[in-house]
Amino acid sequence: MATIGETKTDSTNVETKTESTNGEQVSRHQEVGHKSLLQSDALYQYILETSVYPREPEPMKELREVTAKHPWNIMTTSADEGQFINMLLKLVNAKNTMEIGVFTGYSLLATALALPDDGKILAMDINRENYEVGLPIIEKAGVAHKIDFKEGPALPVLDQMIADGKYHGTFDFIFVDADKDNYINYHKRLIDLVKIGGLIGYDNTLWNGSVVAPADAPMRKYVRYYRDFVLELNKALAADPRIEICMLPVGDGITLCRRIN
Ligand SMILES: C[S@@+](CC[C@H](N)C(=O)[O-])C[C@H]1O[C@@H](n2cnc3c(N)ncnc32)[C@H](O)[C@@H]1O
Repeated sequence: MATIGETKTDSTNVETKTESTNGEQVSRHQEVGHKSLLQSDALYQYILETSVYPREPEPMKELREVTAKHPWNIMTTSADEGQFINMLLKLVNAKNTMEIGVFTGYSLLATALALPDDGKILAMDINRENYEVGLPIIEKAGVAHKIDFKEGPALPVLDQMIADGKYHGTFDFIFVDADKDNYINYHKRLIDLVKIGGLIGYDNTLWNGSVVAPADAPMRKYVRYYRDFVLELNKALAADPRIEICMLPVGDGITLCRRIN
């Protein structure tokens, strides 16, 4: 039986992922570096080909293709999620934003392209090398001036900002896509930094579909390890009276939290 998180290549050379949740085998379209929770390969391909790829800005396409060659390409934000983030930021007129977990910068570029020319993104990642893979494309797109990249773990930066006092309630949008074992710790701080009416987006909240797998289901080690943190986060967000939430099955699951007080 295949384990959750396992990737293989089918006869058409399209990567597929075979999942086992509640004993069912589910085979899904899994282009390199792209993920979907949809249980129909054809349906996900339809979404990408009909609505996402034809409208994907050229720099995002270029960055997606460069990232596909990266050995850790599975970490990138999927094209449909990038399109969603880009639209969402325009809808809420976001100007001051933050991203935790940049990798090569696909979601960062989706954000940068959505913001006005004087918009800002505080972007944090422990690895600058991967950010530099995407940086020339971000520069060519003319949006690098919106980005303040900080290399290093995000938590101490957040603590510093809170201690500083002047960042309270200043962010319109915060996208969290890094170490899942710290999501609860991020939330404790971000709720203070996001504006009332602003949004926090937590990525991977359906975590490969593993959130509904029986505890003894076979799973990749990293999927099992982070699963408990994702389950804990999902419960905590649902019980948090300071936010309204909406969990969307886009990409690997994204939970939007709107701060209400
Ligand atoms: C899933 S990837 C981010 C994908 C990215 N949003 C994109 O669109 O390609 C997760 C990233 O989080 C970074 N990361 C891991 N732990 C971190 C931490 N404590 N603080 C900041 N970044 C961290 C990793 O280096 C990695 O690049």
